Amino acid sequence: MKIMVIQGPNLNMLGVREQNVYGPMKLEQIHEQMRGFASQNGIEIEFFQSNLEGEIVDKIQECLGDADGIIINPAAYTHTSIAIRDALAAVSLPAIEVHISNIHAREEFRQKSLIAPVCAGQISGFGPFSYHLAMVAMLQILNEIKA
Ligand code: DQA
Repeated sequence: MKIMVIQGPNLNMLGVREQNVYGPMKLEQIHEQMRGFASQNGIEIEFFQSNLEGEIVDKIQECLGDADGIIINPAAYTHTSIAIRDALAAVSLPAIEVHISNIHAREEFRQKSLIAPVCAGQISGFGPFSYHLAMVAMLQILNEIKA
């Protein structure tokens, strides 16, 4: 079983950007924790970060035949990208949307997600722990599909 983790724009700046909102943890540290959880559970995991919408669309398309599920933090594209939504709908793999901050408690423009409707669910507001919760949820989904 393989999970693809896709990180959108500016998430490469975690640990530097707006620490009051996103905390001090770097993206690589979050990925290290996810890698640990994946190996404990015998799952393959791959990480991809891009600041470019088209590269994210390409990576989602590449998941077809390569990954069993997608964990995605589309970052700012959450609120704007029909292309990313359409790519997720096209591959039709189980997907979980993740946010570090609680987007529903922030500016009005962040409260709408174009991506969530094509995902199994959205996890938002638990800091870096949101990614761990997404891993647990993805395991559950993939085990249900397998059973
Ligand atoms: C974010 C929330 C988005 O609104 C924002 O543009 C981000 C990060 C989060 O993880 O909390 O870049 O996706």
